Amino acid sequence: MTKQRVRIGIIGGGLMGRELAVVCGRWLQLVDHPVIPEIVAVADPNPAARAWFEQISSVETLTDDWRVLVDDPTIDVLYIAVPHNVHEEIYVAAAQAGKDFLAEKPFGIDLDAAHNIMAALNDSSSFVRVSSEMPFFPGALRSYALANSGALGELVDVRSGFAHSSDLDRSKPINWKRIAEYCGRIGVMGDLGLHVAHVPLRLGYQPRSVYSMLDNIVTSRIDAATSQPVACDTWDNALLAIKAADPQHPGRDFSMLWETRRIAPGNMNTWTFEAMGMDGGVRFSTRNPTSIQRFVKRDGEQVWEDIQPGNVSVWPTVAGGIFEFGFSDALLQMWAAYFAERAGELGDRFGTARPEEALLSHQVFQAALASHETSAAIDL
Ligand SMILES: NC(=O)c1ccc[n+]([C@@H]2O[C@H](COP(=O)([O-])OP(=O)(O)OC[C@H]3O[C@@H](n4cnc5c(N)ncnc54)[C@H](O)[C@@H]3O)[C@@H](O)[C@H]2O)c1
Repeated sequence: MTKQRVRIGIIGGGLMGRELAVVCGRWLQLVDHPVIPEIVAVADPNPAARAWFEQISSVETLTDDWRVLVDDPTIDVLYIAVPHNVHEEIYVAAAQAGKDFLAEKPFGIDLDAAHNIMAALNDSSSFVRVSSEMPFFPGALRSYALANSGALGELVDVRSGFAHSSDLDRSKPINWKRIAEYCGRIGVMGDLGLHVAHVPLRLGYQPRSVYSMLDNIVTSRIDAATSQPVACDTWDNALLAIKAADPQHPGRDFSMLWETRRIAPGNMNTWTFEAMGMDGGVRFSTRNPTSIQRFVKRDGEQVWEDIQPGNVSVWPTVAGGIFEFGFSDALLQMWAAYFAERAGELGDRFGTARPEEALLSHQVFQAALASHETSAAIDL
């Protein structure tokens, strides 16, 4: 099989930029993938961030100016992983240049930015997807497949959640993700919202109205440079009660919860999905990543079955199916899906989030802000 070499430029060499470098370093884990990705350039205004990439032999260009990468005709794909306040400018420029890219969520700092990015994409040939790796856990994919199969019957309740503990420590210094100017007024929904929206939206669960409860629990944090307290003015936790249309039962709505928490005592980084219908149900949590629970009605009994999905995500691996899976594997599989889809080789396998899904998630988050201000449910 001839593999296509893909030259990647990273814009934003922070946490997620480095994660892509790690993914490329273990790409041979994938069996017969059509693409070999290679990081050739990194743009970041922070010299320390750029310096980290000096250890990667394929990197030819290190620059403080992202435009160098957008304008470089030898770069095939950009990974744009920058603070939310700069998403719009760089995504629009990349779209106008016809560059393919994987955008980081939330796809613009707010709904207006997301609309502007989408307008640029509509006039562009760029192949663009939006980062969301948690659904690539095998248990998440199996849950998606079960929900998609129709076996659940009429939907009753769906819960999709991300319970993070990054901000449980009050002494943790402030960073851009906790300041509305850089993160966005949507706060935690910008950080974790697409992670909980991706699977429900891919299943066609169409949000119709939103009632929100938003909490800012830690309102001030220390600035590491000055040791002074500064306002931490973003929502820490957001609970969204959504009425959604059931795509398999037209005319029927069901209740869905999207829960995003940066302050989730008792959790580390737990992503969950649960869908319950009149005929069956499924639930999965990365807290117990090796199994999913399937609910069935059998012989007049309500039965929960435990299924072990193994190490089976979208792309087969050297490790094989009987082993176990973790966060780094989810990132590898998301990138495998992105490059396979770009190469036309993903087929009917699950793909990473589409721009339309990111835009729709922003419409829900905007409605959640309005709901908080009015204490009322907001129709979409
Ligand atoms: N998919 C995930 O699981 C996940 C996890 C964390 C963050 N993210 C997203 O990834 C993006 C980046 O987050 P991060 O955690 O890597 O942040 P980070 O702060 O670790 O890194 C961001 C980098 O962008 C650089 N930067 C800032 N302005 C720039 C510009 N104009 N041009 C080029 N580089 C610039 C910064 O210097 C920094 O090195 C955000 O959109 C965030 O929401 C996704």
